[in-house]
Amino acid sequence: MSEFIDVSAEGGVQTIRINRPDKKNALTHDMYAALASALDAANGDEAIRASVFLGTPGTFTAGNDIGDFLAVAMSGKRDKMAVVDFLERIIMAPKPLIAGVDGLAIGLGTTMLMHCDHVVASPDSTFHTPFVDLGLVPEAGSSLIGPRFMGHHRAFELLAMAEPMSAQAAVDAGFVNALVDADQVEAAALDAARTIAAKPPEALAIARRLIRGDRSDVLERMREELELFSQRLASDEARAAFMAFMNKGQKKAS
Ligand code: COA
Repeated sequence: MSEFIDVSAEGGVQTIRINRPDKKNALTHDMYAALASALDAANGDEAIRASVFLGTPGTFTAGNDIGDFLAVAMSGKRDKMAVVDFLERIIMAPKPLIAGVDGLAIGLGTTMLMHCDHVVASPDSTFHTPFVDLGLVPEAGSSLIGPRFMGHHRAFELLAMAEPMSAQAAVDAGFVNALVDADQVEAAALDAARTIAAKPPEALAIARRLIRGDRSDVLERMREELELFSQRLASDEARAAFMAFMNKGQKKAS
């Protein structure tokens, strides 16, 4: 479905790798569709007990592809975006989600971690959600769960002031469990997944459901954010920000 999403499974653990390093693993429509379908495959396969998201060395993901944002902004089309399928699945995920982050985690690269059950990162990783700077608003339910993780002030700094957050600050904010050396990130994420996969599955599923709680409020907030996000995509502020980013690339090339 997308050459940039690699999916494999071994020993009860599904690995989903975002693999578009030339573009800092920026996520396109097709990539979201592939991510959603990988999670559907995991949910439909009893042998898979947990899924692990990985990026490439130095980059988890630079978030949504800005060229895709610009295309939506210019066309004014408001068709259901594949990102919504992906967000619905990570918000309501019936099986544990783990992430291993090395380097850049921008936009959805940060907010998706708030839906994971366990996250490891390298010490030099950076978490950054420049939504407002792009004329946009927070997404993925982050305006609701961000403050739950880290309180209003830190969530405002991350999600509204768009201040980059260090890896240690992400641990302190509660959405990263542990920091490990960059070359150990994948092994640590897979180890955690294997530990989870080896637990009695029914008991684990019940414990997880209790811990995560009823997620319908998160789903509802994600949809509310999405409506506002879609409106903002067509705003002059957003168009100007996308054009500035795309022009930067063209200047570099010429
Ligand atoms: N969408 C589309 N392309 C992206 C991208 C994105 N989100 N992030 C990076 N790229 C592309 C760049 O256009 C560039 O492509 P090119 O080589 O064809 O010109 C390539 O990836 C490398 O990026 P570059 O900007 O040259 O690398 P850098 O190390 O100087 O900066 C980032 C890396 C991630 C800090 C910078 O690319 C960036 O700010 N990206 C946008 C992040 C963002 O705002 N995402 C949306 C969140 S809602």
